[in-house]
Amino acid sequence: MNNISDYDLFSYDYSQYWQKRRYEHLSETHLLNRIFRKKNGNWFLDVGGSYGRLTPTYYNHYQNPIILDYSAKTLRNNYEVLVNKYPGINLIAANAYKMPFKNNTFDGGLMVRVLHHIENPKEYFKELKRVFKNNGKYVQEFANKIHIKARIKAVIKRDKEFFNTNPYKQPTLTASEGTKNNIEGIFFNYHPQHIKNLLINEKFLIEKKYGCSYFRSPFFKKIFNDDTLLFFEKIMQRLFSFSNFPPSIFYDTMIKKSEKVKIVGTTLEDILACPKCKGNIKIKDNLARCNKCNLDFKKEHNVWDFRIE
Ligand SMILES: C[S@@+](CC[C@H](N)C(=O)[O-])C[C@H]1O[C@@H](n2cnc3c(N)ncnc32)[C@H](O)[C@@H]1O
Ligand SMILES: [Zn+2]
Repeated sequence: MNNISDYDLFSYDYSQYWQKRRYEHLSETHLLNRIFRKKNGNWFLDVGGSYGRLTPTYYNHYQNPIILDYSAKTLRNNYEVLVNKYPGINLIAANAYKMPFKNNTFDGGLMVRVLHHIENPKEYFKELKRVFKNNGKYVQEFANKIHIKARIKAVIKRDKEFFNTNPYKQPTLTASEGTKNNIEGIFFNYHPQHIKNLLINEKFLIEKKYGCSYFRSPFFKKIFNDDTLLFFEKIMQRLFSFSNFPPSIFYDTMIKKSEKVKIVGTTLEDILACPKCKGNIKIKDNLARCNKCNLDFKKEHNVWDFRIE
């Protein structure tokens, strides 16, 4: 069983994290707007989507967007704001390793700033492959292990191990992102080649690679204002996306599966499956029951709770 970064344990309010990170936020939304410009489809999955920070980048391109997150509290606390801004959006509390969806459901999806909490990306990508349709488009962001600052540090320390493709586990951060003093959090930086290999193994072909947040550093932020940084960021995203310099990398992928069956429904009942046994789900009011193993799942404060493990 994989460990999970449970933001609910300490009622961590992730939106606070973004109060002082306007440059990073605009860098990501600029890039995602570019990536999603020509994409469209029916069901869309924002894995670990939290309070919907990135929803504006995909909402108008897909008919049925879902924000899935392990933090039921975050989804419940933000429900009102989210449905007012994005009518029809579905909020589902679930574990990314065990998703409550039928095979071949999604046309599109993304995961941003979550993979560092996923200690077993191989297993997650396998589950992702299961729920995506053939030709589905998926955008994977991850914290880059070999960004330029980390490389310089490794050379100074003569740390040869650093350059292998193994994941780098960050030292425990305190009181940050679903962890607290003395409790070990899950924070991995990944090598671009490692993530590429894992995605390709599960048939996610990388159509394009992008870099993001080139100027994420107190030094640049002290000298330049956000708009100036964003101006240069846009140039860097165009010219240096081939490189592994920046701290954050995005892979724009398309999945090629042999299974050609597609789920075409437009209601949640059409696409839901038991996260435990993958049986069909029947919904009655605020209760969802698995036809196969009889497990019950509840909808509380407008959020379905399909978390297992
Ligand atoms: C750093 S936040 C990123 C939120 C959002 N993607 C963004 O960029 O604004 C990480 C989110 O991933 C969620 N998360 C972590 N592990 C998860 C898992 N195994 N399954 C589902 N969500 C998970 C957390 O609850 C949290 O909301
Ligand atoms: Zn079941």
